Amino acid sequence: MKNNIRGGNAPIACQLEVDKNYAWCSCGHSTDQPFCNGNHKKAGGSPPIIFCVEETKEAYLCTCKQTNNPPYCDGSHNN
Ligand code: FES
Repeated sequence: MKNNIRGGNAPIACQLEVDKNYAWCSCGHSTDQPFCNGNHKKAGGSPPIIFCVEETKEAYLCTCKQTNNPPYCDGSHNN
């Protein structure tokens, strides 16, 4: 079982650029939410999810790590 925690309680609006690779923190330990800063290694958390977008856009990325649609917020932070 990975040592994952909530990284926040609300999504963060991010400007995402086309064809750039992003590493979304899935463990909650990053202090650079919603992105990975490598803290999962010492915390024993799950590794980041690498993703890119097909068009430049603003998106709300999950920080609570409860989403069923990572890296995007799906409202699960309210549960
Ligand atoms: S911040 Fe995680 S579901 Fe909204």
